[in-house]
Amino acid sequence: MNKIGNRKIVLVGTGFVGMSMAYSLLTQRGIDELVLVDVNKDKAEGEAMDLSHGLPYAANSKMVIKSGGYEECADASVIVITAGAAQKPGQTRLELTAINTQIMKGISEEIKKSGFNGVIVVASNPVDIMTYVVQKVTGLPTNQVFGSGTMLDTARLRYMIGKYLDVNPNNVHGYIMGEHGDSSFISWTNSYIGSKSLLELLDEQGKGLEDLLEIYNEVRDAAYEIIEKKHATYYGIGLSLNRLVAAILNNEDLILSVSAYQNGEYGQKGLYIGVPAIVSRDGIRDILKLPLNEVDQCKFDQSCENIEKIIKETVD
Ligand code: NAI
Ligand code: 2OP
Repeated sequence: MNKIGNRKIVLVGTGFVGMSMAYSLLTQRGIDELVLVDVNKDKAEGEAMDLSHGLPYAANSKMVIKSGGYEECADASVIVITAGAAQKPGQTRLELTAINTQIMKGISEEIKKSGFNGVIVVASNPVDIMTYVVQKVTGLPTNQVFGSGTMLDTARLRYMIGKYLDVNPNNVHGYIMGEHGDSSFISWTNSYIGSKSLLELLDEQGKGLEDLLEIYNEVRDAAYEIIEKKHATYYGIGLSLNRLVAAILNNEDLILSVSAYQNGEYGQKGLYIGVPAIVSRDGIRDILKLPLNEVDQCKFDQSCENIEKIIKETVD
């Protein structure tokens, strides 16, 4: 069905986010071709030239890197969309809905025309809503289209909890869920350090919940703080997308918190939102159903309601 065999990636949007991912893809073996597409053709061409000049020192020096048009999507394995407007200081992700919906519609129509039948990963904000738009317009099966969702938020959480408890972030198991935005939440009762309950560990160490709540607030507000200081965030998402692309190409069955289409797994249907899901060659293989307590279920429902409201008002 999808054409993973040739390991070709098309990146649509060669701004800060797209190029941070592209640069980090050079550390991966096993990618044959990377095509850069942007409405600003010179930018895409310049970026392709600059990246190509580093190939002798890259993991796969024979990777083909070039700029191109949407015809390149026809035989691609994965398309990553990072095109569109980004937040200005103080702006929320949801405020980008109208402008980026128009951009996603245009891009999706071109992808559809190309006959592409692989996996699409969306990172443009507000990512849960943009993923919905891309799936609707391309008409591809919902498992083949998904968003980076709360993958970056989860990385921020793991980094901060790791630092707080002085353990490797790889041993912090927990997911930020819901909207990639202000209504996200973490289910603390489903969070573990190694295989030990995070809440039990804190109790043993005489630490209170207040610290965890502060960590969550820092995660939720991290993008605002970074944008205030340097106008954009891109390395964290670049590495997240790099990991996501590897999980697809290598058929890893890796659990990541991505924006996945809901079919009632958490009691909601017909929208994309951040949940832990198994990512493999065909996109989302399955959604991991965590036992949410009543408070967390309410937060999830509220987050879905926010997204649905904006979709009704601005997209449909
Ligand atoms: P940027 O302004 O640096 O780059 C955007 C690129 O999109 C530009 O090169 C522009 O020419 C291109 N573009 C605009 N319209 C296009 C179209 N119709 N077709 C093709 N290309 C088009 O912005 P940046 O910082 O790279 O951010 C991109 C998006 O990623 C934003 O929506 C931002 O909010 C989002 N983002 C998402 C994150 C996540 O965790 N999902 C994290 C950080 C940013
Ligand atoms: C981030 O969380 C802005 O969505 C972007 O860094």
